Amino acid sequence: MTILLSSMPSSILITGGLGFIGSHTIVELLPSFDNIIVLDNLSNSKHTVIDRIKELTNKTITFLPIDILNGADLKSLFASTSITSVIHFAALKAVGESIQQPAEYYQTNVTGTIQLVHIMRKYNCHNLIFSSSATVYGEQIYPVDETSQTGVGLTNPYGRTKYMVEEILKDYAAAYPEMNITLLRYFNPVGAHPSGKIGEDPNGIPNNLCPYVLRVACGIIPQLTVYGNDYPTHDGTCIRDFIHVVDLAKAHVVTLQAMEQKKISGLSIYNVGTGNGVTVLDFLTTFERVNNMTLNYRFGERRQGDLPIVFASVDKIYRELGWKATKTLEDICRDAYHFVKK
Ligand code: NAD
Ligand code: WQD
Repeated sequence: MTILLSSMPSSILITGGLGFIGSHTIVELLPSFDNIIVLDNLSNSKHTVIDRIKELTNKTITFLPIDILNGADLKSLFASTSITSVIHFAALKAVGESIQQPAEYYQTNVTGTIQLVHIMRKYNCHNLIFSSSATVYGEQIYPVDETSQTGVGLTNPYGRTKYMVEEILKDYAAAYPEMNITLLRYFNPVGAHPSGKIGEDPNGIPNNLCPYVLRVACGIIPQLTVYGNDYPTHDGTCIRDFIHVVDLAKAHVVTLQAMEQKKISGLSIYNVGTGNGVTVLDFLTTFERVNNMTLNYRFGERRQGDLPIVFASVDKIYRELGWKATKTLEDICRDAYHFVKK
């Protein structure tokens, strides 16, 4: 593909920008950043998201149907326009699938990121925000802060791809002082834009709690299984740190502003969560209450690889960037259901 965008002024590149977190981030970026280029191979998203973003913001983005693994297209893009910063969302993210298809996960998540950074450096693009995950902390005592050990007891290839990319990017930041790299470790992103125009719309049967709950709430799947009710928590179900995707999107805006204004440089790492642990049962009862409905669920066996308690310490991102989550569990449950009803 020949890419000719040379008339465009400096731009921000968003890889995987039509996906769940990317699309919400673009909506929050557009008031402050005019020139946004999105690349996505549409493997887990739909072209119609572009129209929804336009409806929400009254602004247009440049969309390129490029695969992150296509080095020639990436080079052509960087050669034809001045890109100041990249937010790199594009990845494969299904934990179970990563066990069945590790090659695809290492190729897209690890090779794809190495290639992207290689081309960024070649074309003097020095700011990168990388979508990392709480999964890098693995098995340990929570809450965790950014100095906690990572890579311990990781149970699947997906988690290992995030850990490996973090280690690679840490080495790059140490060796190439011109590179500014921020690792954002998301906890459990859920919810949807309050407008109901964009949200999480996975293909097939979902693995994650919130999309599964939504399918049950809409009658598409008859029943939810709660995996385990014998954990050491107040009601026996697992604890997670569920963060509203709009809050998470805003964390990218403050991070990008801080990087472009050189308030942070070199390697930076932030947890992005609420700091509050919520059980699976708390999630379900809140969902039922705010949406005035009953969910059909039963308790089943523990799911292999699940950690009992995962939640973040979020002091660092508040202290350094002034960001904290403002939306409640009620907002999450209401907005998520509003999106699927629409
Ligand atoms: P998503 O699947 O909704 O979005 C990812 C986007 O990347 C999709 O639009 C997909 O089509 C695109 N993509 C995939 N492979 C590509 C390729 N080879 N070339 C170009 N585009 C490609 O996922 P999301 O939930 O928005 O996650 C975004 C990022 O955040 C991912 O890196 C993910 O690993 C990370 N993350 C997600 C969660 C979560 O629970 N959603 C938690 C922690 C970290
Ligand atoms: C949450 C809780 C389940 C489904 C995963 C990845 C992590 C990150 C976020 C990307 C657990 C329980 C779930 C169901 C259930 N992704 N559950 N019934 O496992 O915390 O994190 O997504 O980086 O890397 O591992 O999220 O939504 O799958 O599960 O009871 O049908 O809900 O047991 O306790 P998880 P989840």
